[in-house]
Amino acid sequence: MLLNLMSNALDALGTLERSARRELSVNVTETPSTVQIRVCDSGPGLSDEAHARLFEPFYTTKPQGEGLGLGLAISEQIIRDFGGSLRAERASAGACFVIELKAASVDT
Ligand SMILES: Nc1ncnc2c1ncn2[C@@H]1O[C@H](COP(=O)(O)OP(=O)(O)OP(=O)(O)O)[C@@H](O)[C@H]1O
Ligand SMILES: [Mg+2]
Repeated sequence: MLLNLMSNALDALGTLERSARRELSVNVTETPSTVQIRVCDSGPGLSDEAHARLFEPFYTTKPQGEGLGLGLAISEQIIRDFGGSLRAERASAGACFVIELKAASVDT
């Protein structure tokens, strides 16, 4: 899941002009009951259409042969199977994908 999110972020950064700032960040935040992983990039961000259709199987804006449009659909399903969620946020510059999972309970 993380590899897919990071490779999407790198693809997005690759569409920027040569001189543009390229940043990819991964941040993890914990609460007693949840773990949140945010993958953010300073790419072109999400169009209205992409934001609405991101998790649709076979939705891709990449050239034929470069993207199947399955990465996010499969990731979202896997995270849901684990009882978590995956959502996209539009940042002021770029996009963030947020994974939220229930924290495992540790018996002490
Ligand atoms: N970080 C991002 N910035 C901008 N657009 C994104 C980003 N991540 C995903 N998208 C958009 O969402 C579409 C779907 O992403 P998804 O990972 O499901 O498929 P893909 O990357 O096109 O192909 P695949 O993952 O199957 O190789 C992408 O084609 C792109 O248009
Ligand atoms: Mg992908």
